[in-house]
Amino acid sequence: MKAIGILTSGGDAPGMNAAIRAVVRTAIYNGLKVFGIKEGYNGLLNGKLEEMNLSSVADIIHRGGTMLRSARSEEFMTEEGFNKALNILRIFDIDGLVILGGDGTFRGAKKLSDAGVPVVCIPCTIDNDLGYTDYTIGFFTAVETVVDAMSKLRDTSTSHGRANVVEVMGRACGDIALYAGLAGGAESIIVPEVDFNIDEVCKRVIQGRNRGKLHHIIVLAEGVGNAYEVAKTVQERTNTDVRVTILGHIQRGGTPSTFDRILASKMGFKAVELLLAQEVGRAIGIKCNEIISMDLDQALSTKKAFDKAMYETAKILSI
Ligand code: F6P
Repeated sequence: MKAIGILTSGGDAPGMNAAIRAVVRTAIYNGLKVFGIKEGYNGLLNGKLEEMNLSSVADIIHRGGTMLRSARSEEFMTEEGFNKALNILRIFDIDGLVILGGDGTFRGAKKLSDAGVPVVCIPCTIDNDLGYTDYTIGFFTAVETVVDAMSKLRDTSTSHGRANVVEVMGRACGDIALYAGLAGGAESIIVPEVDFNIDEVCKRVIQGRNRGKLHHIIVLAEGVGNAYEVAKTVQERTNTDVRVTILGHIQRGGTPSTFDRILASKMGFKAVELLLAQEVGRAIGIKCNEIISMDLDQALSTKKAFDKAMYETAKILSI
């Protein structure tokens, strides 16, 4: 292995830059050439790549976003687009790829791997929706952002005796809502993995108010009902003033947390180790605080488990 490429694809996640830095520095330390591929798979098939050096990744460990930029590429999934990508790898003599992203990105990587390209994937998504790893890079930073917003909402909620519906991201995964809900003391956590009953939510608002609570936070994972409808129903049935905050893409930005920087650094280092050892077609993860790697196929087919016990704990602690 003489030259590798690195790209970030799909929704960005805080900590991607720290992972890029780790890959580039580890690769150069080991005598490899590194090409930074811009704008994900789109950039790959369009030949948007340039060689990186140690300074290319200076001053980025603390920055959100991705210096390589990102995209969701439909063209790459077509036969023509895919062949263009393979050609670019051949033209630039790239012997291996480190690919950063989430589920959709990993599926693209699997296609490359099946075509004989040595790939290693690093899980980066705020959603934490990949079943084979305990955590993905960017998740805890997003949770911090949500908890910070919830603390601010508590202040103003308390002043006015209001309830707040806070909609968070996560696509089909309730982890951001669950972790932020527990850490922020939310009274109700509404996630796709657990059926929700609006009457139970209302009951908790009334019970809290009756025991003197001046604020009430309902965290709602995106896609599970409509935040404004939930707020309207709760307001009508409890006679409490309710406001809605949709945090949206704020959750995707910001300086990565210490945990995410450490995770990204360890995973980036491991990715190059695997490429050098020709252990390819693999996804890196963290299990029980240990950095692991798994066959890409197996990683992609591992179903995400929802932490029901944590959900029940959060419910009890916020009565
Ligand atoms: O997968 C990450 C994520 O932020 C999801 O939580 C969200 O549903 C989606 O991406 C938003 O995608 P886009 O960047 O295309 O708006």
